[in-house]
Amino acid sequence: MQDRHVLEFLRSRRSVPAAQLLPPGPTPEQLREIVATSVRVPDHGKLTPWRLIAFTGDAGARYGEALAALHARIDPGVPAAKLAKDRDRFAHSPLVLAVIARIDEHNPKIPAQEQLLSAGCLAFNLLLAAQAAGFAAQWLTGWSCYDRDAARLLGLADHERAIAYIHIGSRGAEPPERTRPDVEAVLSAWQG
Ligand SMILES: Cc1cc2nc3c(=O)[nH]c(=O)nc-3n(C[C@H](O)[C@H](O)[C@H](O)COP(=O)(O)O)c2cc1C
Repeated sequence: MQDRHVLEFLRSRRSVPAAQLLPPGPTPEQLREIVATSVRVPDHGKLTPWRLIAFTGDAGARYGEALAALHARIDPGVPAAKLAKDRDRFAHSPLVLAVIARIDEHNPKIPAQEQLLSAGCLAFNLLLAAQAAGFAAQWLTGWSCYDRDAARLLGLADHERAIAYIHIGSRGAEPPERTRPDVEAVLSAWQG
């Protein structure tokens, strides 16, 4: 059976730049619902190769401060504007969910790629669920996803890495539209 509402939602949803997010973010109960909805993702072998870390209250501001301090240690010549970006990014959003991929590189059955993709599905599902719940959201990454010292700030184990920060808040101005790929450009029939 067709679900027109879901199709219409998928056709029209879009992200709102994190810098434009406003309070309020989800309540603890709404956050629980968004997460409970989002964990229904494809997960080959039921490994649950991911977890989430929430930044609420002043946690985002404190994490941003810690990242800026780390950035200045790694690169003493880093421009002040970049340090300000480290701080502001997390301080501004009412809620940030870090999606942590937990990859078992030696799993005999499920390749690491499939585990990582499951984590990516969770990140996108969080975006969808937050937007469907009436919030505005955006998936951001940045250098801290690729730095092991930053991973330690998050308390990650060696086999864990942050693959997404899902920023969630309320919508202010209408978000900018973005051109989307043409179906003809991405869909082809096998010629074999
Ligand atoms: C893995 C990944 C990382 C991203 N990181 C950033 C980022 O750091 N900064 C940014 O402006 N957009 C980033 N984006 C893009 C936006 O989150 C998003 O694609 C864009 O805003 C349009 O999303 P929409 O289709 O939900 O409207 C990233 C997207 C993906 C898939």
